[in-house]
Amino acid sequence: MSHHIVEFQDVRYHYPDGTAALNGLSLRITHGEAVGIVGANGAGKSTLLLHINGSILPASGSIIIGDLQLTAQTRKEVRKKVGMIFQNPDDQLFMPTVYDDVAFGPLNLGLGRERAAERVEEALRIVGCQGLRDRPPHHLSSGQKSSVAIASVIAMQPEILVMDEPASSLDPRSRRQLINLLNAFDHTKIVASHDLDFILETCERCIIVRDGRVMADGAAETVLADKTLLEENNLELPLSLKNNPLPRHKGAAMNDLDKLKHLIEHWKEHNKEHARTYREWAGKAASLGKNDLAGVLGEIAAETSRIDELFIKADGLLG
Ligand SMILES: Nc1ncnc2c1ncn2[C@@H]1O[C@H](COP(=O)(O)OP(=O)(O)O)[C@@H](O)[C@H]1O
Ligand SMILES: [Mg+2]
Repeated sequence: MSHHIVEFQDVRYHYPDGTAALNGLSLRITHGEAVGIVGANGAGKSTLLLHINGSILPASGSIIIGDLQLTAQTRKEVRKKVGMIFQNPDDQLFMPTVYDDVAFGPLNLGLGRERAAERVEEALRIVGCQGLRDRPPHHLSSGQKSSVAIASVIAMQPEILVMDEPASSLDPRSRRQLINLLNAFDHTKIVASHDLDFILETCERCIIVRDGRVMADGAAETVLADKTLLEENNLELPLSLKNNPLPRHKGAAMNDLDKLKHLIEHWKEHNKEHARTYREWAGKAASLGKNDLAGVLGEIAAETSRIDELFIKADGLLG
C-alpha cells in the first residue's frame, strides 16, 4: 500500500463544455503534509481540489485518496476522508443555527446526538466560536462565518483538510486567526490560494499549477522566493518577500515578529496613558500644596514621555 495519502497520476479532466482543465496532472502528498497549490486564475486549482473530494471524477489517469482508488463506486467513501472548505462560507452554512451547522456533518456520518454534541463543542472550541453556538450563521461577520465553516468540517474529523481560497474574503485580523488555526491543525492540509503570503505562512510545500499541469513542486520558501519561476507562471513574489529578498522564516519567528509589532503598539498606547496620569496627579499634588511630590511626579511624567521616542524607534526598526 502506498504511504501517500493523495496521489494523482496523469489526471485529465475537461468540463462538459469541452474546456480542458487538467492536462496530465501528477502529484503525491503524504500524511501530515501542508501543501499550498498556487497558480494564476484558470490554472486548474479548484478543479484539482474538486477531484480530491470526489466531487468530480477524472476523464483519464488515476487518483488514490488514502487507500481508495477514486471511482464512481468509492467517491462516497472518499468524501468522508476529505474535509472541503469552500471559498465562500455561505456555500457551506445553511442551517438555522451555528450549532446545527456544525452538528450536521457528524449526524450525517451516523453519530448519535451525544457524540455529535461532543464533536460540535470540540470543533467550536478549536476555532474559538463557542459563544456563537445559538446564532444564525447568516448574521455572522465574514471572519466568524469562515471559522464556523472550518468548525463544521473539523467536526467530521477528516484525514485531509482541503481549502479553496480560504483567505480571500477575510479582514486582516480574521486572516491572521485562520493562519494560526491552520498552523495548529496537524492533519494533511491542501490549500489553494492566490494569496502567496498566506501559503508561505501555512504550508511547508508549494505546488505551482498552470494549464492543468504541475509546473513546480518544492519547499514553499524556495518556490515562492523564485521571482523568475513565479513570473513565468503569471504570479508575483509574496508581499513579505518583495522588500526583503531573503526568505523570512515562517512559523514561530514570523508570528513572533507580528506579535511584537502588536505589543509595541499596545505598550506605546499604555506609556502615553501612564504619562498622562502622572501629569494629572502631579497637578493634583501641587494643588494640595505638596510641591516636592508634584515635582517628582512631573519628572516621572517627563521621563515616561521620553520612552515614547524609544517605542517609535523600535516600531520603525520592525518596518
Ligand atoms: N464549470 C465549468 N465549466 C466549464 N469550464 C470551467 C468550469 N469551471 C472551471 N472551468 C475552466 O477550467 C479551467 C480551470 O479552472 P479552475 O479549476 O476554476 O481554475 P482556478 O481555480 O485555478 O482559477 C479554466 O479554464 C476555467 O475557465
Ligand atoms: Mg479557483
